[in-house]
Amino acid sequence: MNLILMGLPGAGKGTQAEKIVEKYEIPHISTGDMFRSAIKEGTELGKKAKSYMDDGALVPDEVTIGIVKERLSKPDCEKGFLLDGFPRTVAQAEALESLLEDLNTKLNYVLHVNVPEEKLVERLTGRRICPECGATYHVEFNPPKEEGICDHDGAKLIQREDDQPETVKNRLNVNSEQMKPLLDFYDDKGYLVEVNGDQDIDVVFQQIDDKIGGLA
Ligand code: AP5
Ligand code: MG
Repeated sequence: MNLILMGLPGAGKGTQAEKIVEKYEIPHISTGDMFRSAIKEGTELGKKAKSYMDDGALVPDEVTIGIVKERLSKPDCEKGFLLDGFPRTVAQAEALESLLEDLNTKLNYVLHVNVPEEKLVERLTGRRICPECGATYHVEFNPPKEEGICDHDGAKLIQREDDQPETVKNRLNVNSEQMKPLLDFYDDKGYLVEVNGDQDIDVVFQQIDDKIGGLA
């Protein structure tokens, strides 16, 4: 099961990814999460990525392609993988095609979680995450059982640094510009599946599950 989750910032990629990997036991490969942990650990990669992420810009293709290449070559990806937030440019998509060819495998579906842009700002500014386990909440749409506290490990929830209103605006602009050619790229190859992300979290998952269930 080789899947890509695509969608604008706040569309619900991470939220749906948590559910997919729990049910299907494939690795969740989020380039955003990989950059955030590199920043936390103070590695060279983190130093390279930080300034772009702080501005809401894309990290350069060669850096991003390099880390995905390394990750997809690990043995746990042999049974399948879920890419979240990669590719984001046509150059990344082309690099992925040739990488999968080298690994002698191919994609099954590219799931595009589609949410009207005007709804994304409130999703992002109301998001809270657990700094320990990475679980994602929303103050209104997906609150934890106890306000400000992670359901899983009791850690105090925080806001992501790039969820400040100014950065959110830039992220949405940058990503929506890249989205159309990428959707066309995968539509032409017959991989694209449109998912209505503007519904209850469990309803969105049901729609995805109905589509991918046959691959398991
Ligand atoms: P990344 O971490 O991937 O951020 P993003 O694409 O901006 O997406 P988000 O993680 O913000 O949103 P999401 O779709 O996961 O939504 P979530 O499920 O959290 O990337 C961060 C940065 O890293 C980029 O800006 C870039 O700098 C860099 N980067 C990463 N990949 C790159 C690449 N390939 N190339 C270059 N640079 C790259 O949900 C959002 C909120 O909505 C939550 O609060 C959630 O609870 C709520 N919610 C979710 N679903 C629903 C629903 N159905 N109804 C109501 N609320 C919902
Ligand atoms: Mg995410």
